[in-house]
Amino acid sequence: MPRTRYPKYIRDPGVALLSFAEIARGADVSSDPHFPESLMMPPRVIHGTTAMRAWTHKQRELGLRIALVPTMGALHDGHLALARKAAELADRVVVSIFVNPTQFGPEEDFDAYPRTLDEDRACLEREGCCDVVFAPSVSEMYPMGENLTWVTVDRMGEQLCGAVRPGHFRGVTTVVAKLFAIVHPEVAVFGLKDAQQFFILRRMTREMGFGTEVVGLPTVREPDGLALSSRNRYLTPEERAAAPGLYRALEEAKVSVVAGGERDARSIVTGVISGLTVIPECRMDYVQLVDTDDLQPIGTLEPGQRVLLALAAFFGKARLIDNVIIEVPPI
Ligand code: PAJ
Repeated sequence: MPRTRYPKYIRDPGVALLSFAEIARGADVSSDPHFPESLMMPPRVIHGTTAMRAWTHKQRELGLRIALVPTMGALHDGHLALARKAAELADRVVVSIFVNPTQFGPEEDFDAYPRTLDEDRACLEREGCCDVVFAPSVSEMYPMGENLTWVTVDRMGEQLCGAVRPGHFRGVTTVVAKLFAIVHPEVAVFGLKDAQQFFILRRMTREMGFGTEVVGLPTVREPDGLALSSRNRYLTPEERAAAPGLYRALEEAKVSVVAGGERDARSIVTGVISGLTVIPECRMDYVQLVDTDDLQPIGTLEPGQRVLLALAAFFGKARLIDNVIIEVPPI
């Protein structure tokens, strides 16, 4: 059964043409243009940018707010949490599913990345919080073949994951800018699981004047703390059992700042590295502490500062990332 969105419908009865009682008596909700499509039918799949623009245009004419949730598919509960939030924030929800070639390095898993459009669509249908799945082809998104036009955010893409994935964030910002240009969303929802990506996209959106509100949602985790990720499927049972150690090490560091008064960035990072060294399955990639505004490394934490403690580590062939955001207590 699709999850109903009646509460939102009630919140704005001014735009509804049909009353609840009429719907309960079997009135045809498709005659009401303000009724969320996701209540009436499975999410529509749109492949072409022209059709996507036409749909967007129609919603705007009706005065409806659009939320966009960009994804690369292989949806899990982390993605669905974003779609549910999007349904709270807007009248219409577009979930884009596009495995973006320009954000993968030559040695990365672009070809092997799971492509599960039918399952993803069914999953969104069960949730009842998506109106359109926008699933363009590579040639729709990169119509000239070789891409010459890029959106880059200086400096912020060079730290953390950017140091070992050159060009990755340029690919992310460029494809999200394209999606914004096609869908024109009032709001776009991203996960803080990819915190560097979130802060870069927030900065890009503000500086480019897209007029889209960028919302970040906390990381959805397994009960043992492992952040949900489509790459977790690559873990062996032993690696899966050891992987929650990443989050434990980050949480311990957070406690040392918030409750223990630690302010020296180097000691905090060293503490996390020690926590990872005792996990035999784990091969550390990086641990870094940076400011959330510009993602530049920090020496000493200042009262009231908001910082990002982030890491990446290999477990077998899976490269996992995780992070915590720490609000340094005021004096
Ligand atoms: P993808 O890895 O599919 O992630 C899509 C969105 O889901 C991102 O905003 C990501 O942060 C969020 N997400 C993933 N796992 C999550 C979790 N455990 N909890 C909460 N949110 C989670 O990120 C990308 O795709 C791409 O780079 C994209 C932005 C779509 C551009 O191609």
